Amino acid sequence: MQAWTDYMSQNKDRFLDELLELLRIPSVSADSKYKDDVKRCAEAVKDNLQKAGCDKVEICPTPGHPIVYGEKIVDSKLPTVLVYGHYDVQPADPLELWNSGPFEPVIKDGKIYARGACDDKGQMFMHVKALEVMAKTNTLPCNVKFMIEGEEEVGSSNLGKFLETNKEKLKADIVLVSDTSMISMEHPSIETGLRGLAYMEVEVVGPNRDLHSGVYGGAVANPVNILCKMIASMHDENNHITIPGFYDKVDNLSDTERKALNSAPFDLEEYKKELGVKENWGEKGYTTLERTGVRPTLDVNGIWGGYTGEGAKTVLPSKASAKISMRLVPHQSSDEIAGIFKKHFESIAPASVTIKVTAHHGGEPVVTPTDSKAYKAAEKALKTTFGKDPIPTRGGGSIPIVALFENILGLKTVLLGFGLDNDNIHSPNEKYDVANYFKGIETIPYFHKYFAE
Ligand code: BES
Ligand code: MN
Ligand code: MN
Repeated sequence: MQAWTDYMSQNKDRFLDELLELLRIPSVSADSKYKDDVKRCAEAVKDNLQKAGCDKVEICPTPGHPIVYGEKIVDSKLPTVLVYGHYDVQPADPLELWNSGPFEPVIKDGKIYARGACDDKGQMFMHVKALEVMAKTNTLPCNVKFMIEGEEEVGSSNLGKFLETNKEKLKADIVLVSDTSMISMEHPSIETGLRGLAYMEVEVVGPNRDLHSGVYGGAVANPVNILCKMIASMHDENNHITIPGFYDKVDNLSDTERKALNSAPFDLEEYKKELGVKENWGEKGYTTLERTGVRPTLDVNGIWGGYTGEGAKTVLPSKASAKISMRLVPHQSSDEIAGIFKKHFESIAPASVTIKVTAHHGGEPVVTPTDSKAYKAAEKALKTTFGKDPIPTRGGGSIPIVALFENILGLKTVLLGFGLDNDNIHSPNEKYDVANYFKGIETIPYFHKYFAE
């Protein structure tokens, strides 16, 4: 649409500057040190929504970080799109691995480098700018509501309650989320599923204090050794997970579905090269796309115990711990998997140690429909701006709140993501391509147009 293209080209520099401004705020939700910055970021999002054309904006406090709500209602008879995103970011550490400050965004070779550039400030902000484009050119074809939260990276623990108590306010026809990735700029795609999550913390305790590893070593169980052995036993020689019952509810894809999934463009050699690994790894009998898209996993996210300082200290540690996550697929349930993990972990512990297993936040897996009006609008929007039909893919990441949109609000979601797998989200040197940012702003108005038709 000419009016959109004109408005965008006249305001491109400003659209970029405004995103950089947002990226300068260290809105790390996990670290209480940044609480005031998170709040400041919520206010910045609110101001931006207002300037973009929302006629009602508010900051909704929660027991944790605030939720920003905004809306522009054109006509109550028109359909309503609820845009969800998050303004909080992951911690930036390890800081020494960044080539520039995580909260001092720089543009290099057409890429914006900063924590949150892709996940999710850059992607969320595309919707704010897309609203501006439609509002300022008087072409908004439907009602738009925004719900931008500040606790996604810490499990969205207060958002479920917010949905429960604000059903009327959040009334909509579809949820639109840009917080996922696509294959590439040459191959636009739409994620049609997200994995769930069960996140556990385990502690193994041996002797009542750290011991001299010479005086006692060999006669008392070493909790670090024991923990490593227990963790290693949870995958068999085919890299299957050994927890009894773990696969019981896993939805096995039909041959046709597997074929479709594997027909997406994917270059294993390029994948390995890009990650710097000589060989890939995974569950026997499945391809890489299946392993990340439709199969469940178990991974240690962190492990500690004993002496990790400089030099060598001879010690038999009293305790060892690990944080272990399991990615889940339909129809596994997060609570159920957490339960069987706990039972199994306790059952494999030798009598020489005691075990503590606690569950952190979790989330349910989702699949989104591909035959709905909203999905078709997304498909058509991408086709319009990329000149190619998008490929449906299954994403490996998790956005736990998406299952609650369906359960609490009765709303389906479209995952219109513009990130790339190599955007280094949650890693040092997170980036978002300037081209993807503008492509998103260009595409989103078409989604609204086709959805409202
Ligand atoms: N945006 C990601 C999820 C994502 C990334 C989905 C890429 C698909 C492709 C989100 O911010 C995230 O990081 N989620 C967490 C879970 C959350 C409970 C901390 C995750 O997937 O680890
Ligand atoms: Mn995200
Ligand atoms: Mn994230």
